[in-house]
Amino acid sequence: MIAKNNLFLKEDIIYMKRALKLAKKGLYTTSPNPCVGCVIVKDNVILGEGYHKKAGLPHAEVNALLNCKENGNEDKIKGSTVYVTLEPCSHYGRTPPCALALVKHEVSRVVIAVLDPNPKVFGGGVKILEDANIEVCVGVLSDEAYALNKEFFKSIKTNRPYVIAKSAMSLDGKIANKDGLSKWITNEKSRNYAQKTRAFVDCILTSSKTVIDDNPRLNIRANTLNAKLQSVVRGEYFTAPLKIILDTNHSVCLDDKEIIKDGILYRIASTQSQYFKEQSKDSEFYASLTSFTLEQKECFLKKIKDNVYDVFLYTDKKEHLDLDLVLSYLNTLNVRRLLLECGSTLLSSFINENLVDEHLVFMSSKFLGKDGINAFFANNVKDVNKCNEYSIKSVKIFDNDIVIDYMR
Ligand SMILES: NC(=O)c1ccc[n+]([C@@H]2O[C@H](COP(=O)([O-])OP(=O)(O)OC[C@H]3O[C@@H](n4cnc5c(N)ncnc54)[C@H](OP(=O)(O)O)[C@@H]3O)[C@@H](O)[C@H]2O)c1
Repeated sequence: MIAKNNLFLKEDIIYMKRALKLAKKGLYTTSPNPCVGCVIVKDNVILGEGYHKKAGLPHAEVNALLNCKENGNEDKIKGSTVYVTLEPCSHYGRTPPCALALVKHEVSRVVIAVLDPNPKVFGGGVKILEDANIEVCVGVLSDEAYALNKEFFKSIKTNRPYVIAKSAMSLDGKIANKDGLSKWITNEKSRNYAQKTRAFVDCILTSSKTVIDDNPRLNIRANTLNAKLQSVVRGEYFTAPLKIILDTNHSVCLDDKEIIKDGILYRIASTQSQYFKEQSKDSEFYASLTSFTLEQKECFLKKIKDNVYDVFLYTDKKEHLDLDLVLSYLNTLNVRRLLLECGSTLLSSFINENLVDEHLVFMSSKFLGKDGINAFFANNVKDVNKCNEYSIKSVKIFDNDIVIDYMR
């Protein structure tokens, strides 16, 4: 973390905490943008405050300036201190640069928690402020600010979404019994908690096999959320997550599936699939495709109907889709937070390719027996001192179930 100026004042922590609290209000609505909060202070009095609500709408700094005006404090902004959880932007995007707005209002000091990792901004906001002789201080509560937007940071730095795996398993590590029956392994409270994660992510990914076996809808059951989150999910700023099916061979008939009932669905198949090879010989089908290049590979998109798309990703392996290419494609759809809701085969591929950033394990106290289906298979390790290891982010207990959130 670059600290422009490490001379923090005691009150800097207090007001930055307030700005972080405001930023959290946008946790379920701002993605693909980060959550940002801003507080404007003079003589130990808050003149105004605000947060970013949704991509395309004003940034936190602009909302805080507006709030100063609403509070009758417009003439006091000159000479004030601005606390903002992310570096003010310096580029013209859907909104003009916030750093320029602060310069225009002649604030005298800007305290920033973390620099914006976006290459269009990184350090540019600070430069605009410093060039205007505004004192800038970077690094106040930076760990908290980074943690709040960890998915955004990972996604901007790697051009791949932050991947959250979800497994619901028995105490003996099985996701289904030997007949493949997997419903009701965990209890209702656990299942309701899982809905919160669906509301948090931009996209939910499943497999052809799970769609065939379980016929999931992958929507958000708003009535299972707490009252506060229900109002967010039913509110004007919320966008339901995209749904993705990995169906290498384009083999699933979607017409009778729950998954197409609401939201936006992308089925991802391979250019090596028999379906694609056969169909693309037909000139009408070929003309209906939009071609695009991803990591120097030619891929195709076809709109099937409103909100349903077929994507054909290049793969040279015949068996399965290239998961890194899938993630690269999801990045082009602005997916920052991805939730995996699939069975053990696909989850194991994600785990063994080291693509999982966070793993939410829902574990019941039941046993499904040795012939049940394992939750996942990690690759064997030769040296136990060099295992992949996660840290525990949180543990929750719902009656007889336990939910462990593991993070890289
Ligand atoms: N308890 C839970 O949390 C939970 C959650 C979801 C599902 N399930 C259960 O899991 C069962 C299905 O598990 P499963 O292991 O048989 O199937 P799965 O892991 O859901 O899906 C496997 C399929 O994914 C497709 N796939 C696409 N790209 C892949 C890649 N790069 N690597 C690996 N697979 C890829 C493959 O089919 P194609 O290549 O043909 O497309 C493969 O057959 C279901 O019965 C369901 O009930 C449990």
